[in-house]
Amino acid sequence: MTYKRLLFSLLLVLSITMTACSSKDSIVENPEFAQEQTDFINELDVENIYASLKKLTKEPRVAGTDSELQAAAFLTAQLKMTGYKVDVQPFDFERYVMPDSHSLVVEGFDSPLSPAPFQYSVAGNATGELVDAGHGLKADYKKLDVKDKVALVAVADTPFYELVLSASDAGAKAILLYFPDESEIDKWSLGRERYEEFIPALALTYEEGRKLLDFVKSVKSANAAVSIEGARIEKATSQNLIATKQSSTESNDDIILIGAHYDSVDEAPGASDNASGTAVVLELARIFKVVPTNKEIRFLFFGAEEEGLYGSEKYVSALTKKEIKQSIAMFNLDMVGSADAGELSIQTIDGADNTVTKAASRANKVLNGKSIETDFGDRSDHTPFHNAGIDAALFIYDPVEEWYHTPEDTIEKISKERLLNVAEIVGTSVFKLTSPSINNE
Ligand code: BES
Ligand code: ZN
Repeated sequence: MTYKRLLFSLLLVLSITMTACSSKDSIVENPEFAQEQTDFINELDVENIYASLKKLTKEPRVAGTDSELQAAAFLTAQLKMTGYKVDVQPFDFERYVMPDSHSLVVEGFDSPLSPAPFQYSVAGNATGELVDAGHGLKADYKKLDVKDKVALVAVADTPFYELVLSASDAGAKAILLYFPDESEIDKWSLGRERYEEFIPALALTYEEGRKLLDFVKSVKSANAAVSIEGARIEKATSQNLIATKQSSTESNDDIILIGAHYDSVDEAPGASDNASGTAVVLELARIFKVVPTNKEIRFLFFGAEEEGLYGSEKYVSALTKKEIKQSIAMFNLDMVGSADAGELSIQTIDGADNTVTKAASRANKVLNGKSIETDFGDRSDHTPFHNAGIDAALFIYDPVEEWYHTPEDTIEKISKERLLNVAEIVGTSVFKLTSPSINNE
């Protein structure tokens, strides 16, 4: 080699090294790892994800029903085909059943009324004097006697369950709520749970509420009879599914968790919520099966999320102290495919960064050229993990689509590109967290 060529080679090596060092990204630092990572992610097949989504969205998958069980059977079969042993973790939970019938009769009031029950309305028959209870705030009841009466409340900003509890606290027998606008009353919910203290509650349209208010003001007194029948709490059974990929090394006993709930709400095929997350986790389980990892990876499929995070609560409550300590990251995928939702958001219970958000933000930088800021969000299965002290985060396109929790949550509204994007981000994050080649093992 001539002196000139040697100098040229040295300069070339120097310039490559400098470029590599100028970036913090290990992809550039370690081209071999970058290649491994790219090869790995290329294994993802969005058509697999879409095919699972199609199977899952044939009908709603309400927790405790046969269709949830069938979804579990489908997932189990798929995981077994990939080579996993599947652990089934059954659990009981209490399910709220909507009323079979309801009625409202107001003495002397002739206009038609079309009241609607709320989710979590309690059953009961109550007759009492109808009273204008303003906005139904605690302060309103200080100046008003509603004992054994029926309260008529114009909803302002207070959550429904609070309005029902305040009326109950003041001694009312039932409550009628009407809305300050023309909001459509379909299946309103009083909140996330049923309280023992609830009294029968029905919703009226704005127009009906106003008319009734005028009526109440115009008469000396009028009785209202509220009846709600059939609303009840039922014991039901659901199950979590767990597929575990063992670590390829013995020196590290950390665990990574990747989960999604596979149940849906009633009447919704739940394509976005949450066949999307379920199908992505299934595909991640498939591609990780054959990769050596230096940590154990558990793929979790939760039942009964929509009834109140029962599946994830059960899973976390059954973990040993040791397992909790070993669990360094929990990735929760819920609503990860809607074409019509907002941008991808990564949410934690305290809005703070953790192992999951850092890994995902870095992965997004590698894949999409930008990092992602962590948002606050507590409306899904990452909550019990966080509460147990495990770094956890939710992946969700937010704000969510308009038809969230409706029969319109169908596969046509799902974007393959968005599904793949989340699969790649979570896949890359977990690959990096579990790769022997960058952990010197
Ligand atoms: N996928 C949703 C969570 C969600 C919805 C997060 C919209 C952010 C925006 C989840 O399945 C759900 O509906 N959760 C319930 C709470 C649960 C405890 C019943 C909710 O948020 O109302
Ligand atoms: Zn969901």
